[in-house]
Amino acid sequence: MMQTSNKELILRLCEQRTLTKQEWVSLLTGFTDEDRAFAAETARGISRNHFGNRVFIRGIIEFSNYCKNDCLYCGIRRSNPNAQRYRLTDDEILECCAEGYEIGYRTFVLQSGEDLTYTAERIAALVRRIKASFPDCAVTLSLGEKEYEEYAMMREAGADRYLLRHETANAAHYAKLHPEKMSYAHRMKCLEDLKSLGFQTGAGMMIGAPFQTAEHLAEDMLFLRSFEPHMIGMGPFLPHKDTPFAAEPKGSYEMTLFLLSLCRIMLPNVLLPATTALGTIRPQGREQGILAGANVIMPNLSPTAVRKKYMLYDNKICTEDRSADCRFCLQQRMKSIGYEISVTRGDYQDEENRDLR
Ligand code: 5AD
Ligand code: FES
Repeated sequence: MMQTSNKELILRLCEQRTLTKQEWVSLLTGFTDEDRAFAAETARGISRNHFGNRVFIRGIIEFSNYCKNDCLYCGIRRSNPNAQRYRLTDDEILECCAEGYEIGYRTFVLQSGEDLTYTAERIAALVRRIKASFPDCAVTLSLGEKEYEEYAMMREAGADRYLLRHETANAAHYAKLHPEKMSYAHRMKCLEDLKSLGFQTGAGMMIGAPFQTAEHLAEDMLFLRSFEPHMIGMGPFLPHKDTPFAAEPKGSYEMTLFLLSLCRIMLPNVLLPATTALGTIRPQGREQGILAGANVIMPNLSPTAVRKKYMLYDNKICTEDRSADCRFCLQQRMKSIGYEISVTRGDYQDEENRDLR
């Protein structure tokens, strides 16, 4: 029987928005630079059609690197004694927002390790303060796994979006990346809870995580297809020196770009960031991510004094820069590839009522 060519598979994904697991595996194991270029061109066309040459920006405030978890890949895992821990006060977080607002951010992403000192009540109060001070801004939370009632409290307080990468859609693989206490089932429950509460919900995975196979990535794509997240966070795995995965190879830059394109083709209106990890693995990684179909950038809005301490992986970029440096650096970078930064909230728009701005 004639093998379906990769180009045919990409076109099929474009038309049917789905592939079988076998087709995914075949596409992800045997692609060439030419296949990648074809996928990128197709994906870029879809992005252009949905978002024009606009890239949304989100200011990310990394407000605490304390974490009760011990994910094997992560530099701020609990059992890393070399991590210098810090916490920002509510006032400091609000100051970051104020600084961000001045330079055009209309989405604030509050991210931290799983730090129990920030209770759901405290986060809810903080979200209320941010919303009262900046009513035209969206608030995204990225705080890890919580109980339904806790998510509900945050949502009631006005939080708009929540990022929780699924990390891998294969339970056995999940168990190899996480300590026994954490479970794939609970992760999935959290994602379902978030969506049912009306959060614009983000899932995603690292590309080239230890033990990851093409089958796993195929399962990730099938999961993303059926869950239909509003956002997908996807960057290369990068080792951190103080973790059990210190000696593992980093993920593939090319594979990451290819998967970004395939996500765009599969879910045309998804909010898809060109991640900091992609900018870390290659100096022009984020620009190439946009050219491969991504449409979001999430520059750092944390105080420069703490940036070096929020090291999920080695050599993270922008840790010496100030918020305004990143903001204008990105503006230049986007301009260099013919894109402009959009200073709107940049909400998810479903296909029916999308609005080109
Ligand atoms: N390399 C790349 N990405 C990482 N993350 C955590 N550790 C690493 C690493 N070593 C990602 C995870 C997490 C997100 C906040 O950062 O996917 O969900
Ligand atoms: Fe931070 Fe370029 S984005 S310095």
